[in-house]
Amino acid sequence: MQIVVLTGSAHLKGMSALLAENFIKGAEEAGHSVVRIDTAFKNVHHCLGCLKCNGGDNDCVMNDDMKEIGQTIEKSDVVVFAYPMYYHLMPMTLKAVLDRFYAFDKSFVGAHKKAFMFATGWDDSEANFAPMRTWFKSDMDYLQWEIAGELNVGGYMTREELEQSEYPGMAYEMGKNLQD
Ligand SMILES: Cc1cc2nc3c(=O)[nH]c(=O)nc-3n(C[C@H](O)[C@H](O)[C@H](O)COP(=O)(O)O)c2cc1C
Repeated sequence: MQIVVLTGSAHLKGMSALLAENFIKGAEEAGHSVVRIDTAFKNVHHCLGCLKCNGGDNDCVMNDDMKEIGQTIEKSDVVVFAYPMYYHLMPMTLKAVLDRFYAFDKSFVGAHKKAFMFATGWDDSEANFAPMRTWFKSDMDYLQWEIAGELNVGGYMTREELEQSEYPGMAYEMGKNLQD
């Protein structure tokens, strides 16, 4: 399968990246092809809400990195969102990409892709992760993509601590066990 991993952190070797790396390792060992896109380092303007794309009938009026990112997602069977929680939401660079999905709605909605979410944060309470879990369920229902796996990882302050936990192994297994 073709997989795209959208990361949301500026820490290329951070906590959410650790989960992404392990997922990618498992998926590649299982024979899948993976593209990682670090949205914090891409030039993606926020959606203007101009509606000129009309939900995918026309190209977005902005000519930036979203064109290639959208085309990569179009070609992918699996989409992974891996990011640190910022004020109970995703960082703006990843959210900018998400909002710009609208210009791809005609090909994204109903495409029956599989989706994973790996979110990290300081706080490990259920309430802390509730907004993200609600977002993930609502948006995957809208897109008609199947939620194939989810890790909400709180309570770790450093990558080294997280490396000692069971979570990198869980992310690895999710990639390794991925099937059509
Ligand atoms: C601006 C900002 C906002 C944050 N908001 C939250 C939050 O709402 N809940 C939480 O548990 N952690 C929050 N954190 C902590 C990060 O989510 C946490 O450090 C994360 O695991 C870092 O992941 P990274 O290494 O992949 O960047 C915040 C951190 C920053 C810098």
